[in-house]
Amino acid sequence: MINYKKVTDDTFWIGGSDRRLSRFENIFPLKDGVSYNSYVIMDEKTALLDTADISISDQFLENLKGILLDKKLDYLVIDHMEPDHCSQISTVVSMYPEVTLVGNAKTFTFLSQFFPELNDQAKVTVAEGDTLSLGKHELTFVMAPMVHWPEAMFTYDKATKVLFSADAFGTFGAIDAGIFADEYDFEKRFLDEARRYYANIVGKYGMQVQAVLKKAQGLDIKVICPLHGPIWRENIGWFIDKYQKWSTYTPEDDEIVVIYGSLYGHTKSAAQKAADHLREKSGKNVRIYDVSDTHTSELVSEVWRCSKIVIFCPTYNNGIYIPMENFLSDLEALGVSGRTFAIAQNGTWAPASGKLITEKLSKLKNVTIVEPMLTIKSALHETDEPEFEAFVNAVVNA
Ligand code: FEO
Repeated sequence: MINYKKVTDDTFWIGGSDRRLSRFENIFPLKDGVSYNSYVIMDEKTALLDTADISISDQFLENLKGILLDKKLDYLVIDHMEPDHCSQISTVVSMYPEVTLVGNAKTFTFLSQFFPELNDQAKVTVAEGDTLSLGKHELTFVMAPMVHWPEAMFTYDKATKVLFSADAFGTFGAIDAGIFADEYDFEKRFLDEARRYYANIVGKYGMQVQAVLKKAQGLDIKVICPLHGPIWRENIGWFIDKYQKWSTYTPEDDEIVVIYGSLYGHTKSAAQKAADHLREKSGKNVRIYDVSDTHTSELVSEVWRCSKIVIFCPTYNNGIYIPMENFLSDLEALGVSGRTFAIAQNGTWAPASGKLITEKLSKLKNVTIVEPMLTIKSALHETDEPEFEAFVNAVVNA
C-alpha cells in the first residue's frame, strides 16, 4: 500500500521501517528495528534523494511510483553509497532509465564497484558548494567525508531550508506512527538508541563530524532529514547540541558506569559493592553492567554518555578477560577520548589484567587513569577494606 508522507513544500518522505532485522550491519543488535528514509522533491524537475535498503524495497518502490505517478524521475541524488541506502539504485534506473545520477567523484567510484552495469548511466558530478536547480528548489551540496563513509555528502534545499543529512542525526529504531521527532517523546523513545547509533557508527569520526557541523552553521536550517529515524523540524538546536557533545567526546552526564567481568561471581560482588559505595560517596548516578551479558555497543554508548568508567576485571590466561578485552579494543578502535577510568583487577595466583588494561587505555587520548588501582586476590574480604575505600575515594575525587 502506498504510504508516503509530506515533509514540507513539495518534499515527501517515501521510506519505511524494517522491524525484523536483528542486527544492524550484522553487528549491532536492534531492539525495535530501524528505518530507512528516502525523500522526493516534486518540482519542474523531480529528484529522489537516496534509495533504501533491500528489506523495504517493495514499500519504497511502491511509494516512489505512487508519488511520481506519470511524471518522470529527473535526478537521483546519492548522498550515501552504503548498501542500506543505495541497494535500489539499479532498480530505480531500470524503472526510470532517463534519470541522471547526482553524486561526487567518490560516489561514482563506489557506484561502479557496486553497480558496474550503471557505468554508462547519465551522471552529474558535484563538489563542495555546487548547486542544482529543480525549478523553485535549488539544491546545494555539502561534502561530509567520513560521516560515515568517504563519499558521504549532505544536500541542502535553499527553498525549504531542508538539510538532507545522510547518516548524521540518525538513530536506530523503527519509525512508529509519525515521521517527525516532535511527534514523539524523543528522549524516552529514541535518545539512547540515537547515542548508541552515533557512538558505534560515526563515533570514530568526531573531527569530521565537527567539520561538517561548522559548515552547517553557515546554513539556515529549518528541517533536518536524516537517512535513519525521525525528521527534525522543532527543537533542532537540542539535537545539534547532542552532536556537538558526542563529536567532541564531551560526556553528557557527570555519572559513573561500572563495567565488570566475572567468571564465578567474586569480581561481580566486588563491583557491586564499589557501585554502592560510589553512589553513596559521590551522590552521582551509578550504572553497573556485566561485560559478558551486555552488547559492546551498549557499553560504548554508556562510555559516550558518562564521565567516569570503573572497570572490574579478572585475569584470564595471564591476560585480560576476553569479553573485557573486546570491549576495550572497541574503545581504542572508536578513538574514545576525554574520560576518566579506574581499574580493579582480580587474580587468584598472578593478577595481571590491571597492568594490561592500563597499557590499553593509555593508547586513548586525553584520558585519566585513577590511582591507586585495586587488586583483589580471588575475592574481596574485610581485610581489603582500607585498599577498597582508598580506591573508591580516588574514583570519587578524580
Ligand atoms: Fe545508514 Fe552509513 O549507512
